[in-house]
Amino acid sequence: MHTPTIIIFGFTGDLARRKLIPALYYLIADKKIHNPLIVGAAQEDTTVEIVLERAKPFISDVNELIWQQLVASVVYQKTNVTIARDFFDLQRFVHSLEKKKKMTGNRLVYIAMAAHFFSQITEYLSESGLCKQKALDDKTWHRIVYEKPFGHDLKSAQVINECIARSFDESQIYRMDHYLTKELVSNITLVRFANCVFQPLWNNRYIDQIQIVLDETIGIEGRGGYYDHYGALRDMVQNHMLQLLALIAMEAPEKLTEDSVRDARCKVLEQISFVDGMLGQYEGYQKEAHVAVDSKTETFALLALKIDNPRWLGVPFYLKTGKYLQKNEVAIHIKFKKTGTFVTHHNSLQSNWLTFTISPEATFSLRLNVKKPGEQNTLLPVDMAFCHSCMFGIRPSQAYEMLIQEVLNGQQTSAVRSDEIEASWRLIDFIKSKKLPLYCSYKRGSEGPNEIAQYEHKWGITWSPK
Ligand code: BG6
Repeated sequence: MHTPTIIIFGFTGDLARRKLIPALYYLIADKKIHNPLIVGAAQEDTTVEIVLERAKPFISDVNELIWQQLVASVVYQKTNVTIARDFFDLQRFVHSLEKKKKMTGNRLVYIAMAAHFFSQITEYLSESGLCKQKALDDKTWHRIVYEKPFGHDLKSAQVINECIARSFDESQIYRMDHYLTKELVSNITLVRFANCVFQPLWNNRYIDQIQIVLDETIGIEGRGGYYDHYGALRDMVQNHMLQLLALIAMEAPEKLTEDSVRDARCKVLEQISFVDGMLGQYEGYQKEAHVAVDSKTETFALLALKIDNPRWLGVPFYLKTGKYLQKNEVAIHIKFKKTGTFVTHHNSLQSNWLTFTISPEATFSLRLNVKKPGEQNTLLPVDMAFCHSCMFGIRPSQAYEMLIQEVLNGQQTSAVRSDEIEASWRLIDFIKSKKLPLYCSYKRGSEGPNEIAQYEHKWGITWSPK
């Protein structure tokens, strides 16, 4: 069990409230961390009690005893991240508490703030000694987590990477993408490489197309100031969607650990190229708080990409994401080519589909053709499905709990390396430069802009059957 110091910059923000504080609660409840020192840092004049109360609604079935343990673990220090002196004060404050509590001094620093603060915070962390380069000795470590999005484009990401490299070792750095720690996402690599049945089929000979869908029913949830500068391409495609694509398309890593997986992901990210795309904006977006009245920011994106290597030659990858859509669906659908046997011309023959559903329910399923009972030659599609909660019953650890645990364990597989980040920004910059058509305004609760139909027809998309 870990007894770390966890320092969170942006402690009064949205991410801390919705995700980080609940994750810490569950880690304490599950006895994954013991007696931690949690230091909240932000610019607001506030108290631990106020900040924690705001996070309480995001925890289901709060156990008062565990809650009190959490409250007792947290301290708050008002900090302005643009002032060097505040970091020196914070370092003295943290050091004295660690000494008092006889802690080892292992520190996890979580930067839950906007990317334009990253370089400044990195410099001050180093100057103040709040984070020291590499291990202090064999047993003590300092690790820094950077929340996504890491930068705004390739140039800004490179600037942050250079700044980090001046003060820290890459082994201390965790550029996090919480999608990589979701239960079913971390399953993709294992399902792919641990099952002999999939290995020979995973290429352009058998796969017709791959669809990655991140549809949300929610909107921008009061984050207009951030979202209007990012939009769907930078908020969802650059990180979550390209990482999912990389896991599906990468070559077999030498080992299932750290740099082997990151090498494999990076290689395929560098081989992705853009084919075509369209964007959309939901009706009423320009009236959202902190959004420009004439905003051209996209809240919906549909892209066709390809991968320039022999395995994927000719296989289209379709990516679709949007806010305020009809349903919540995070899934990867793999459509196989139809079989080349005597039933090829059979009317009822359908493609096989392998689907990884990440949410709302963690499942994966394989759609097969079987004989319809009572009829001689009619085929019926059926799904063989694995449902995580049906089988294991337990609440799967949520992405941010896994993420914090991986950092505590010094596990970097789910952290995105500097070259991966730069490869994905390179692609997004290229797509942005294409000035894709933006269709305003799709109705909230719809499937997106009506014009999607044109593109489906043009590209030959057949969405996975429900
Ligand atoms: C975040 C995006 O990274 O991921 C949000 O900034 C999005 O816009 C969220 O809603 C989706 O994550 P999840 O885990 O709820 O699917």
